[in-house]
Amino acid sequence: MNIAVLCSGNGTNLQAIIDNINKGYIPARIAFVLSDEKKAFALERARKAGIETVILDKKEYKTREDFDKEIVERLKKRDVKLVVLAGFMRLLSPYFIREYRNRIINIHPALLPSFKGSHGVKDALDHGAKVTGVTVHFVDENLDNGPIILQKAVEIRADDTEETLLERLHKEEHKAYPEAIKLFVEGKIKIEGRKVTIR
Ligand code: GRF
Repeated sequence: MNIAVLCSGNGTNLQAIIDNINKGYIPARIAFVLSDEKKAFALERARKAGIETVILDKKEYKTREDFDKEIVERLKKRDVKLVVLAGFMRLLSPYFIREYRNRIINIHPALLPSFKGSHGVKDALDHGAKVTGVTVHFVDENLDNGPIILQKAVEIRADDTEETLLERLHKEEHKAYPEAIKLFVEGKIKIEGRKVTIR
């Protein structure tokens, strides 16, 4: 199965996906890695792994939908069946979601529906939560809202800083995302309404 990974930053999740494809755990190939940030280190990781990269500059598109149309066109051209968001810092338009309904997944550094948004790690710490974690979910029209595929819990320690907590969350992300992608690629995920079951 062809998948595409959309990133804006460091790309440690991308790296975990690449490594798990290379060792045969995920039976898929990455058609391309796309970024809206030309300086994203994720692009370096893709190049090093011999994966095609695509950089799109949002300034060249009038609307979010125009930008997304370009992405969807490229996805279809390359017969991509699963879109993996890995630190992609742009909201997808309803058009994109419609075109790839139940075929776009995201990873979030908290146990959804708690601590949605781009400060999930800091918000859990500031709230005084004792447990947080990571969530892999399908993407729908609302932020961090779609059906949940899997979650892993991470304990918050009294002396945690954002940095130390993020480090442990990343370790879980790098296991959870490859696991969820493998399940999708092997056709083991069933969605009914909000409920995802693993066959
Ligand atoms: C991850 O922490 C993920 O939960 C969030 O964005 C971050 C991306 O990190 N959606 P990286 O670029 O994969 O290192």
